[in-house]
Amino acid sequence: MKVAIITGASVGIGRATAEAFLGEGFAVFNLARRACPIAAVTNLTCDLANAETIDRCIDTLQATLAQSSEIALVHNASQMRKDSAAACDSDSLQQVLATNVVAINSLNQRLLPLMPAGSSVLYVGSTLAEKAVRNSFSYVISKHAQLGMMRATCQDLMGSGIHTAMICPGFTDTEMLRTHLGSDPQWRRQSPA
Ligand SMILES: NC(=O)c1ccc[n+]([C@@H]2O[C@H](COP(=O)([O-])OP(=O)(O)OC[C@H]3O[C@@H](n4cnc5c(N)ncnc54)[C@H](OP(=O)(O)O)[C@@H]3O)[C@@H](O)[C@H]2O)c1
Repeated sequence: MKVAIITGASVGIGRATAEAFLGEGFAVFNLARRACPIAAVTNLTCDLANAETIDRCIDTLQATLAQSSEIALVHNASQMRKDSAAACDSDSLQQVLATNVVAINSLNQRLLPLMPAGSSVLYVGSTLAEKAVRNSFSYVISKHAQLGMMRATCQDLMGSGIHTAMICPGFTDTEMLRTHLGSDPQWRRQSPA
């Protein structure tokens, strides 16, 4: 059995990713606070900012994972807040990093030891993993960190047969983009309809 574990498959890019993996014959599990509306996806309710709920989800997957010939772990979920170098509360930064960075590590710690050769760890990054824009301070920090995690994962898994990569989408019309850009007409012109 091929298994895809996707964080944040309730909406947006994660939901579309779930559909793609289903099409390739994977059993798909969504780790998010909301359910994925695709009936064939199994939902494991999870707040990635809370390590205990991550552990509970992985505990429920143990039997399934033991029978898996291939596991695709897709780190898709992220939080994006409007903040800046001069206005970013440290508590808020910690929350963003808990979801966007520490949760990835928690999942890797539990799942990497269970992954057979041929499995993959996929990071959904951003073009902001390698550059910055204004008013996205905590997001830019976390996306740079995700890029570092992917590169370090690649080095540490060399020879294991486990593949890793980062996918960096450009503007994609999702809840995250709409919330971030709001009704700013300058951005609206540059973003997809
Ligand atoms: N849209 C773009 O233009 C764009 C561009 C570059 C990169 N990206 C990246 O693509 C990925 C997906 O973004 P998107 O645009 O599809 O965003 P989205 O539609 O807002 O979806 C974000 C997903 O993350 C999940 N999530 C957020 N916080 C969570 C938490 N604490 N616990 C569990 N799940 C959480 C949400 O699930 P729940 O709310 O149900 O928990 C949701 O499924 C992100 O990594 C983003 O940085 C997006």
